[in-house]
Formats: sequence, C-alpha cells, structure tokens
Amino acid sequence: MDLLQRLLYTALSVASIFYLIIKTSLSHWKRRGILHEKPKFLVGNLGGVGGKRHISSVLEQLYEKYKGQAPFIGCYAYLKPMVLVLDLELAANVLVQHTNYFKERGVFGNAPHDPLSANLLQQDGADWERLNSVVCPTFVEKNIIQMLPTLEKVAGAMHRSVKQSEPHNIIPINKLVDCYNIDVISTLAFGVSGETFLNSDTEFRRMARSYLKDFNIFRLYFLMYFPNVARLLRYKNYEQAATDYFLKLVRQKLFELEWSRIDNRSSFFQMFAELKRDRNPKRRLSDEEIAAQAFSFILMGLEACNSAMTFCLYELALQPELQRRVREEICGVLKGNENGMDKTKLEEMNLLKQCLYETLRKHTPYAFLLRNTNKDYEVPNSIFMLRTDNHLVIPIAAIHRDPELYPEPNKFDPERFSKENVQRRHPMAFLPFGVGRRYCLAQKFAEMQMLVGLATLLRHYSFSPCRETPIPLVYDNTRLVLAPKGELRLAVQRV
Ligand code: HEM
Repeated sequence: MDLLQRLLYTALSVASIFYLIIKTSLSHWKRRGILHEKPKFLVGNLGGVGGKRHISSVLEQLYEKYKGQAPFIGCYAYLKPMVLVLDLELAANVLVQHTNYFKERGVFGNAPHDPLSANLLQQDGADWERLNSVVCPTFVEKNIIQMLPTLEKVAGAMHRSVKQSEPHNIIPINKLVDCYNIDVISTLAFGVSGETFLNSDTEFRRMARSYLKDFNIFRLYFLMYFPNVARLLRYKNYEQAATDYFLKLVRQKLFELEWSRIDNRSSFFQMFAELKRDRNPKRRLSDEEIAAQAFSFILMGLEACNSAMTFCLYELALQPELQRRVREEICGVLKGNENGMDKTKLEEMNLLKQCLYETLRKHTPYAFLLRNTNKDYEVPNSIFMLRTDNHLVIPIAAIHRDPELYPEPNKFDPERFSKENVQRRHPMAFLPFGVGRRYCLAQKFAEMQMLVGLATLLRHYSFSPCRETPIPLVYDNTRLVLAPKGELRLAVQRV
C-alpha cells in the first residue's frame, strides 16, 4: 500500500469517526424519546445565529411552535443537547422552588488562570456560595442609595455634552448612553472618575469594548465539551491585555485608597476594598477577586443598560404623546430639585419605570437564563425526568413576547406594568433580571442607574425620529445582548 493510499484511509477513518460522534450527539433526544426540534448537521438548532438570525428569534420560534405540547422539549446548541423550558410552572420550579436541583449555571470560568472570570456569573459550587455570601450584601438598597449623587453627577455631564453638541441635533443615542454607562461603571465600580463625555476614546472604554477573545466556533465546542481539559490547558476567556489593564487599575486604586484612608461607602469599589481587609479570612477578597467583581459591571451591566436605555428612548421617540406624559411626570417630581433626586422621587416616576419595564419586555437584553441539573430531577405532574448535568434554557425573551401573556406583543404599552396588570400575570411572565438564587444581584442598582439617566435626558430634551432612524428596528445579530444594528440616531431638541 503506498503512502497516498494510507493517508486516504486514515483521513476516511478520522472523518467517519467524527461523523459518528456528531450523529450520536445529535440523536440524544431521539434516543431518549423526548419531543425535540430536528437538528441540522454541526449547527443543531442554532443555524444562522450570529448571521441572519438573532438567538432571541430562534428561541421565540421554538417556544411558539411547541408551547402547550410538553413542559419542555429537547434542542441542540450546536452539538450540545439542551432542555428548552416551555412551561411557566416548570420555570418556577427550576428557578425558585426546587433550586437544590439547579444550583449551577454552567458558564465556563477558569479563575486561577483567567482572574477576571472569578465573577459570580462564571462561578458555581462552593466558589459561588462563598463569593455570593460576601458580595451580595454590598448590593442592598441602603448602599446603592448612597450612589445616587454620583449617578446624578454623571447624568449631569451627559446633559452638558448634549447641550454642547447643539445645533447638531441628530444624535446616535446608543453612543450617548454608552458614554453614560461607561462613566458610571468606571466611577462606581473601579473608583476612577470617568471622562468619556470629554474624550470618548479613553483606555478604559477601549478595554471595556475589547476584553473578549475572538469568537471561534471550535473554541466554543471545545469549552462546551471539554471544560476540564480547557481548565487544565489554562484556557482564558479574556484578552491578556484587558486582564492586565483592569488588574493594574484595581491594584493602583486599592493602593491609593489605602493611603488616603478615606472611609466612606459611596461606591462599590470602596465597599469591595473594605472586603479586602475583612477580619474573617473566608470573607476576605483578594485583589484579583475585587477586579473580577468590578469587571462584572462591564461583563453583565454595560451592554444590558445600553440596550434598555437606547430602546426606551427609541420607543418614546415613536410615541410623542406618551413621551410628553413621561416628561410631565419627571418635571412634576423634580420641581425645584434643590436637593437632587432621592429614593422617594425615583419611586414617584411611575410611568417612566413602567416604560423601562415595557422596554425590558419588548427588547429583552438577555434572551435566556441558563441552569444545570446537579442531580436527577423528576418533573412534577409528568412522566419526565431531567438527568444530572442536563443544561436548561429558559427563553425569557420568548415568554415576554407570548401573545397569551402580552396581547399584541409588538405594541409598546407601559400600561402592561401597572400594579393591577402585573398582579394578574404569572410571576414567571417577566424575568429580564432572572429570579431565584442566581438572579441578577445588581437589579435594583441597574434600575436606578437607568432611571436617573433617562429622567435627566427626558427632562431636558425631546426625542423624535429623523430620516436616519431605522423604522422598523434592525437588531445586531452578531451580539448576544440585544442591540441595534449600527448607530441608532434620533433627533434631539431642548425643551
Ligand atoms: C439592564 C441591566 C441588567 C440586566 C437586564 C441584567 C440581567 C441579568 C440576568 C438575566 C442575569 C441571570 C439571572 C439568572 O440566571 O437568574 C444576571 C445575572 C447577573 N448580573 Fe445582571 N443584569 C443587568 C445589570 C447588571 C449590572 C449593572 C451588574 C453589575 C454588577 C450585573 C451583574 C450580574 C451578575 C454578577 C450576575 C450573576 C449572578 C449570580 O449568578 O449569582 N447585572 N443579570
């Protein structure tokens, strides 16, 4: 047998083995006799995601197709079998009632070699338990209220920047709110006063944009199938340059704080710094862990807040009468405004909050929640069993657009979030921040951050569509967090 023939046989054998592995992976649900969406070779049910389609619309299609037929169906994220939860009672059991079976999220992290991944999102098991018990108390209402003056200060800078941009009144709204959210994060989470409105090309902003390693489907397969091998090989999610930058920044700021002996708790960074000196060694945070908690504001908060604020202003621009009522409410609450905003004033901005919630419903930033089964689970009132290490997807964006829960889901109607209407719905019908033990611990803060920014803008400016405003909206399918494609421009006018 000559060399060429041997090579040919080897290649054929390898290809056959791969084909077999792929075929076996993609027949998982068929073998288990579970209702499932037929997968396509290599891509499973995610064909077109990141190109022609957004993950949100794929999940919505599956939810609509199978809802009511079973509490869950099987589907495939590429080759990985996943459980797609369709029933709100099952969602309540997974997320709230029976969390002992669903403690983990299963997002890859490698804290020893990739320090920024020591954040709550990417931790599971005992590491998460410890970190959560230490970090969670910093997000209590008493603490976050102290950050209101800083939020107002940053919102003031945003207001001045719009004022200075006159008479050019066509503004890319997503860029504007990005500067606001970046400055909030740099000031409150990293202790560095942001100056993005003066110079939009700061190193902080550049790093907050380029921390992820290039997306690569083989890398994704590798992490999904061999997380332990990836850990052994010291795999990192984040670019070394970004890791070095954020670590250096945090160490420098911790050093400065130590020497200045400022003792107040008006930023997350100061509260994290206190945890570095905790007397109990189990509660003490290392510099790397502090950097990872600060980084989670960028990882989880930045794009989500950008998304919600941008789409809220967009929807209000399309409904001038609603926008007028929101402005009237804000101006009424802030009349005089000698003492700035406070908790009561924010609570009185009821219509604005309803608009924010309606935005989070219609344009849900994170399309799904993830959970892993840590032991076998019998699905109540059914014959089904979820096995240990099953990956569950709860398609919250699809639930938010279910016409049985929200008639005419494409209509932007903040009245859906009046107290009475909320009480009429299933508690799992609105989950933009998740729920249960792994919910978004920063929910209250993120809401306050967005309300302060929106109230400041809407109080002083009116927003309307211009020739460059995309109607209908086009989403950027390449991004996981829902965002407009390109710049979203609106006409802005002083009121
Ligand atoms: C509009 C803004 C935001 C939205 C829509 C949002 C949404 C979410 C969602 C859906 C989850 C998963 C919840 C679950 O699995 O049940 C989550 C978790 C998380 N979020 Fe947020 N988030 C926002 C802002 C923020 C901000 C500003 C931070 C800053 C620290 C943050 C930090 C986190 C962390 C650390 C987790 C993981 C919690 C854990 O597993 O213990 N989020 N968020």
